[in-house]
Amino acid sequence: MQRSTQKFLIVGGNCLKGMVKVNGSKNASLPILAGTLLCAGTVKVNNVPQLQDIKNMKDVLSYLGAQVTCDGKDIIVDGSKIQSLEISEDLMRRMRASNLVLGPLLSRFGFVKISYPGGCNIGSRPMNLHLKGLKAMGAEIKEKFGYITATTESGLKGAEIHLDVPSVGATENLMMAATLAKGTTVLRNTAKEPEVEDLQKFLNSMGAKISGAGTDSITIEGVDELKPAEHTVIPDRIEAGTYMIAAAVTKSDITLSNVIAEHLKPLIAKLKETGVEITINDDNVRVSGVERPKAVDIKTMPYPGFPTDMQPQMMALLTIAEGTSVITETIFENRFKHVAELRRMGADIQLEGNTAIVRGVPSLTGAYVEASDLRAGAALALAAMAAEDGTVLDSIEHIDRGYERIEKQYNSLGARIIRVSS
Ligand code: UD1
Repeated sequence: MQRSTQKFLIVGGNCLKGMVKVNGSKNASLPILAGTLLCAGTVKVNNVPQLQDIKNMKDVLSYLGAQVTCDGKDIIVDGSKIQSLEISEDLMRRMRASNLVLGPLLSRFGFVKISYPGGCNIGSRPMNLHLKGLKAMGAEIKEKFGYITATTESGLKGAEIHLDVPSVGATENLMMAATLAKGTTVLRNTAKEPEVEDLQKFLNSMGAKISGAGTDSITIEGVDELKPAEHTVIPDRIEAGTYMIAAAVTKSDITLSNVIAEHLKPLIAKLKETGVEITINDDNVRVSGVERPKAVDIKTMPYPGFPTDMQPQMMALLTIAEGTSVITETIFENRFKHVAELRRMGADIQLEGNTAIVRGVPSLTGAYVEASDLRAGAALALAAMAAEDGTVLDSIEHIDRGYERIEKQYNSLGARIIRVSS
């Protein structure tokens, strides 16, 4: 097997202390950056995290002909001279979220061709709901040789669309497609995630007429064009949640700043159930771990349920809890790849279909483990920080997709993590 070039060496057992600032949200930034393509002018997006996934999206925008300039965490996109409406397989394969350009390009130019993003490590992740919605708005869709081509001769038209499941990506893609459609679109059974609300806020700042994001029905009144605007991205609730679990799993006391606690309610409720103490003070959240957390049951659900993106990290915590926890994954069919790696570290986990039965052990031991995807990697780093000795965590490029130099953040709090190249 080919090994990746970078690894983390993690010395476990260190207590964390201090304050960490949460970055802007990756999952809010990605659709917003795709949404800049709806405007034939200059749009500024502030507080964008500096991550591999964001770089991939900037590459997609540049490839299409947009002018992308960065000033630290602020990104300026000038979409006045789009030259291409096709995205190559190579670019699409780098990141699934590239599919979010489908709605904006089709809506503004009447044509788009992208390579099918395909499956990924956590599940098959189809696009049927995105395509069904676009068809309902009058698009002609062809799927051939692994490419999706969407065309509309006389522009998209408003429609009533009911999503079979509240897909985040389909909600965002269809919202963007509908902004420049003729007439009114009503999306039902929509995703209620905070990132969808942030996208609505961004699109409305450019002159779109959208209401209802954050509920299960979104109404979009089509407008002729969108205008230049500036938007600041919300804080990353998954990054914040990961740091909260870092405090819990290492029995430490840390404070996070730049947090919207409202977005973290499902995680806060579960952490409190384990006995972890959480104090909220405006946009600061203090997390104080306990000697041994109590076991809790988790079922992942669309927002405001417990997020699937926090399931692996929560599992890492529950491996050392007192008692047995039952974790049910209902969103993705293959999101338990971290289980085998956690077992290598001494965790007692039994898998039964989409359920993991986690019998808490007093402590974990260091091991050689490998990240299979972004959040699985984050979970293994947490387990390694709690373990009694050293861990080698391989394939950390997955972690870099979603966390900005996570070892720097953890080390500033007292962890001992070294990034090594080989
Ligand atoms: C987004 C997040 C991802 C998170 C996920 C669920 C971004 C960039 N990514 O991914 O981190 O884990 O939401 O909270 O925001 N589905 C279909 N047909 C479709 C689309 C989706 O059946 O056309 C299904 C999927 O297989 C999955 C469920 O819907 O079972 C949820 O997926 P979705 O909400 O679309 O996830 P993403 O938007 O890809």
